[in-house]
Order: sequence, then C-alpha cells, then structure tokens
Amino acid sequence: MKNLTSLYSFAVVCLASLLLWSCGRADGEFTGSEYMPDMGHSIAYEANVNSYYYNNTWGSEEDYHQMAHPRKPVNGTVARGFLPSKYQKLGDFRTSDKETHAQLQEKVRNMMIKDSEIVNPIRPNSADELKDILNKGAGLYLVACQVCHGEKGDGNGVLYNDGKGKYEAKPANFTSDLFLNAPDGQFINAIMHGKGKMQSHVDKLSPDERWMVIHYIRSLQSKKTGVEYNPVVSVNTAPSSMEESVVESEGDEHSEVHDGQDGHE
Ligand code: HEC
Repeated sequence: MKNLTSLYSFAVVCLASLLLWSCGRADGEFTGSEYMPDMGHSIAYEANVNSYYYNNTWGSEEDYHQMAHPRKPVNGTVARGFLPSKYQKLGDFRTSDKETHAQLQEKVRNMMIKDSEIVNPIRPNSADELKDILNKGAGLYLVACQVCHGEKGDGNGVLYNDGKGKYEAKPANFTSDLFLNAPDGQFINAIMHGKGKMQSHVDKLSPDERWMVIHYIRSLQSKKTGVEYNPVVSVNTAPSSMEESVVESEGDEHSEVHDGQDGHE
C-alpha cells in the first residue's frame, strides 16, 4: 500500500512537471509553447507583421509570409501631399515602337512647354517664406545642377568651363533670352525627363525640391536682369494676373454680378 501511494505521488509529480514543461518559456526569438493556443493567436494575417504561429494556421509559413509581407504600391499611387502630373513617365506618351528615346523626350518636351497649366505650385506667402525656399533651392542647385549650369546659371559650370572642361556638351544658359522667357514647364521637363546629354534628375530631387530649384533659377535670372524676384502671393489678392483685373474693371458692374450669380446656380 505504501508503495502504491509513493507510485501515485511520483505519477502526479511527473504529470505536473510534464504540464509545466509543455508551457515552455518564451526566450529570444522563441515565443514559447502554449497549451491550447487556438484563441491566443489570430489566424488572420496582418499586413507587414509576421505573426505566424505554427499551432494555429491555415497554411504554410511561406503562404503566410506571402500574404503578410510588404507590397509595392499599386500603379498610379500618389504620395501624400503631391499632385500627380500626367507627365510622370515618358513611356506613357510612346505611340510607336520605332520612336527613339530622344524622339520621345522631344515630343514630351514640346507638350510640356506648351502646357500653360504647368506653373510652380510652391507659392510663398511672405518674404520670409520666399527666403526659406530660395535658401533650400540654392543648396539643391549647388548639389544637383551647379557643376554644369554654373554658379550664375549661365551654363558655364566647372565641368564645362568654356569648353575646356571634361564635359563637352554645353549646358543651357538660364540667363539667355531664350530661358528668361521659358515657361516653368520647360524647366520641370528637363529635371524630370532630361534633355539631350542631360540626365533626368527625378531620382535626385523630390517633387517639391524640383520646384524649389526652379524658384532659385528664377532668382538667378532676376539677378541677371536686375529685377527683384518677387513671386510672393498675398493670400487676400483676388485676381492672379494683370489681365484678369483689367477684364474685371472694364466689365459692366451690374451684368458682371448677375453673370456671377448665374454661374453659381
Ligand atoms: C552633367 C551636367 C548637367 C547637370 C548636372 C544638369 N544639367 Fe541641365 N543641361 C545640361 C546640358 C548639357 C543641357 C543642354 C542639353 C541640350 O540642349 O541638348 C542641359 C539643359 C537644361 C535645360 C534646358 C532644357 C531645354 O528644354 O532646352 C534645363 C531647364 C536644365 N538643363 C535644368 C537643369 C537643372 C534644374 C539641373 C539640376 C537639377 C540640371 N539641369 C542639371 C547638363 C546638365
């Protein structure tokens, strides 16, 4: 009888230790073993988190990984804060397999030069804001453009150096009449798609940075012409161009108000 009792005690101790052991302790990468974990771990996968649990699953670890791992954004995804431009990809404008890269570049360049809707979206509201934009633009210009286009924007950077430099293609002179009158579309096109020997700079500058550089180039042009660069827009100014204000002051006040109301109905 005594033997039987000690056998029982021994069995109980063994069972208890087995139970305790089965709830293994978590350590490092190991989450530990659990007793009946079916509700403890969600079998649904969570995006970007690998919470695969071998005891509670509908597929292999590989299946789970495939579902949960980060994916590429859907085509056409637009980063927050950026307006999409229809000119993102040169390839979108290809109409024939025979079209060379240079022809495609030229075609899109002409489209962007003619597109009057392309205007610098960064519009400073105060002199301080403008100063900040020009400072940033200057830093970016120095890093990305100056070696070729020169400190003054005259196309004579150290790499070209009047044709004595290592770079044989003559960079554009932003202070020439041609570029003083060039629309924003021509500048942003060169940055996005390159031009001739000049490479695209989309991988070097974010969309905002590209426009800051263009503000800075405009300020270099102003230095050349001696006119103060002042793109500051007052938040309370209604007409955005001379033409609009002329049209408004010429119109008959009565009919204008009437027209306006009609338009809103
Ligand atoms: C490695 C030299 C190099 C760098 C760096 C460079 N460019 Fe150019 N860029 C050129 C050359 C060369 C041309 C002339 C290409 C042609 O007319 O075929 C040019 C032309 C241009 C044009 C005129 C495009 C047109 O439509 O005629 C613009 C605008 C321009 N670059 C802007 C920039 C800006 C902005 C940067 C910096 C973000 C920059 N470039 C960086 C070499 C460079």
